[in-house]
Amino acid sequence: MKLTYLGHSAFYLEGGKVKALIDPFISEKLENLPFDTKEITHIFVTHGHADHLGSTVNIAKESGATVISNFEICTYLQKKNIKVHPMHIGGRVKLEFGRVKMTPALHGSGIETEDGMLYGGNPGGFVIEIDGQKIYHAGDTGLTLDMKLLEVENIDVALLPIGGNFTMDIEDAVRAVELIKPKLVIPMHYGTFPIIEASPEEFASKVVGSEVRILSLGEEYSF
Ligand code: NI
Ligand code: MN
Repeated sequence: MKLTYLGHSAFYLEGGKVKALIDPFISEKLENLPFDTKEITHIFVTHGHADHLGSTVNIAKESGATVISNFEICTYLQKKNIKVHPMHIGGRVKLEFGRVKMTPALHGSGIETEDGMLYGGNPGGFVIEIDGQKIYHAGDTGLTLDMKLLEVENIDVALLPIGGNFTMDIEDAVRAVELIKPKLVIPMHYGTFPIIEASPEEFASKVVGSEVRILSLGEEYSF
């Protein structure tokens, strides 16, 4: 299984029968895409904000990929003739490639459109299980005690926001790691805009009990 960092909270996940994107707001600084757009099978969208929905519509149309998100975002995308798999917070489902659970996030989920802000349901995160490996993508969230419930999931790789202002900052993300106890954590959602500037090295130096891997743009982590 491999995870490639595409900037912000965007990742490419390849393993088993899946070639997936998570929150595909892909950095324009990325010179070569580490995937073939036409081959994408699934796109996970944690919430409706533009820096997470990203290129979902274009990539889903080009690839025919199924978008996995909450019911409200899926309803919005379905009207654009995109294949969807709606689910909701706390729900778990077995799909062809493995199991997916939607987790809560403390955040918003409005979808910005030309006609104003559309209701995007509740924001979430995902626990994605493929071939016995579990990845947790937190989406955008503040620190919440609900994260303690993830401890028994035995998360292999946790993707956590550290940039502050809209999400957890370093201090709170360190506390999140203590609640979740993943084997490894990869920081995300920092440095894209001045307001979410944060040092991943500082985060790494403060985390106790879990390994930290800082991925640079386009870097791949295999596990
Ligand atoms: Ni957001
Ligand atoms: Mn965001």
